[in-house]
Amino acid sequence: MNELKIGDLTAKLPIIQGGMGVCVSMSGLAAAVANEGGIGVISAVGIGMSEPDYRKHFRASNKIALRKQIQKAQLNSNGIIGVNIMMAVSDFDDLLTVALEEKIDIVFIGAGLPLKIPAFLESINQAETATKFVPKVSSSRAAKLIFRHWLEKYNKIPDAVVVEGPLAGGHLGFGKDVLNSSKQSLYSIVKETVDEIDVFQQLTGKEIPVIAAGGIYTGMDMYNIMQTGAKAVKMGTRFVTTTECDVSEKFKQNYLDCKKEDIVLIDSPVGLPGRVIINDFVREIQQGEQKPVRCPWKCLKTCDYKKVQFCISEALFNAAQGNFEHGFSFAGTNAWLAKEIISVKETMQQLMEEYSHEEMRLKEVEVCEY
Ligand SMILES: Cc1cc2nc3c(=O)[nH]c(=O)nc-3n(C[C@H](O)[C@H](O)[C@H](O)COP(=O)(O)O)c2cc1C
Repeated sequence: MNELKIGDLTAKLPIIQGGMGVCVSMSGLAAAVANEGGIGVISAVGIGMSEPDYRKHFRASNKIALRKQIQKAQLNSNGIIGVNIMMAVSDFDDLLTVALEEKIDIVFIGAGLPLKIPAFLESINQAETATKFVPKVSSSRAAKLIFRHWLEKYNKIPDAVVVEGPLAGGHLGFGKDVLNSSKQSLYSIVKETVDEIDVFQQLTGKEIPVIAAGGIYTGMDMYNIMQTGAKAVKMGTRFVTTTECDVSEKFKQNYLDCKKEDIVLIDSPVGLPGRVIINDFVREIQQGEQKPVRCPWKCLKTCDYKKVQFCISEALFNAAQGNFEHGFSFAGTNAWLAKEIISVKETMQQLMEEYSHEEMRLKEVEVCEY
């Protein structure tokens, strides 16, 4: 397995742990992954819900919690730590400012096109920051749009790009028609994006790794997707069932108990489909039942909180705490493969072994065919 280089940062392993919002991936998981040579990611999404004063001081709580978690992860690790911030959150600018003040290594930006980041950095005198910026996209078209806009307008480009396919956990950047028909595979989107990004590499002389995500669970998946030109993978689901994952034991058990057919799609108030593990709460919302919504503030730019059927942040936070009567867990299509809770170290070892095994197997096949 090759190292992953993002600008002047080098991760020993090309494995990024996906940011998992509303208190699933915090400093514990991020530090453990970074210590094993991968890139650990704290999700800033709904992070303040873990603070006692959240209902009174939601915006401030998000900033306090993010700062605390970054500092804790940096203290407990000697590796690369990132944060994930969704464009869709109302306090995106606040959270990004905290991450920059804490000198985070990388910011992963999902759920929207981060076209104006360079302008924002200039406005807060951070244009020369060492922090790396990595957008998450679901198509090569979106990647091209972001890279071209940054280059033409600011003479800069992002430091890497994550391509997330239709099998991922959490919110998805595809319509339900694509998700139900598996019309588009991660392989084809990654290949197209590698070609698209190559144009920007040639133009700028900068190396821009393309990172693949969504449905990658084993080292075998890793090896195969990396043959398309992806330089690394980003995995969320696989890291939930680790000892260090910051979520409740009941949430992890929900993964261990689920079957393949329990992993379903819902319409999230964010305005995107979401992949979840079915339970009674999910069945009720699928049947159109209205849940009580006590919105302390409009945490999502796109959420019309007076009309939504349920509050996505509350539902995810409840599940993260183990309260499945009032919530559900996000999960990727491969969550049913989880059989036990093991440490991040063991997970990384398994991934490396599976990767080498697949590499050797395919080389033997090649020799036999020759
Ligand atoms: C429980 C869970 C929560 C997630 N929360 C977020 C989030 O807050 N923001 C985001 O951009 N992606 C989120 N994701 C997506 C992950 O960062 C990652 O891209 C995805 O899990 C990759 O697919 P996989 O789960 O098949 O490995 C979440 C995924 C899961 C499973």
